[in-house]
Amino acid sequence: MVQKASPKLTEMMNQAIAGELQAIVQYMWHHIMVKGLNSASLMDVFEDIAIEEMKHAEKIAERLFYFDVAPTTKPNPIAKGGTPEQMLKADVQAEEEAITLYKDIIKQAVAEKDETTRLLFEQILSDEERHHDTFTTLLGR
Ligand SMILES: [Fe+2]
Ligand SMILES: [Fe+2]
Repeated sequence: MVQKASPKLTEMMNQAIAGELQAIVQYMWHHIMVKGLNSASLMDVFEDIAIEEMKHAEKIAERLFYFDVAPTTKPNPIAKGGTPEQMLKADVQAEEEAITLYKDIIKQAVAEKDETTRLLFEQILSDEERHHDTFTTLLGR
C-alpha cells in the first residue's frame, strides 16, 4: 500500500482548513457589517474574497479526504467588526498567517515527494498573496 501522506502533513492541512473557515466567516461578516468611508467598494471585496476562501477550503478538504483524514469543521478564532481599518488589519493578519503556513506545507509536501499537494498549495498561496496585496493596498500601506 502506498503511504499517502504523513500525519504531520495532514495535521498541517487541517490547520489550513481551520484558517480558511475563519477567513470565510470573517470576510463574509465584514461584508455584511462594513459601514462608512468607501464601504460600498469594500463590501464587494470582502464578499469576493470570502467566496475564494470557500473554494480553497473545499479543495483542501477534498485532498485530506483522499488521504482518509476527516477535515476539521472548527474555524480559527474569528475577528469581528469594528472600523473598516480594524477589519482590514485583522484580514491582513489572517492572510499573513495563511501565507506562512502554506509555505511550510509546500516544503513538507516536497519533502514527502507529494507533487499534487505541493501544486495545490502553490496555487492557493498565489491567491493568498493577491488577497494580502488587496487588503494592504486598501489600508493604504
Ligand atoms: Fe484561502
Ligand atoms: Fe486569502
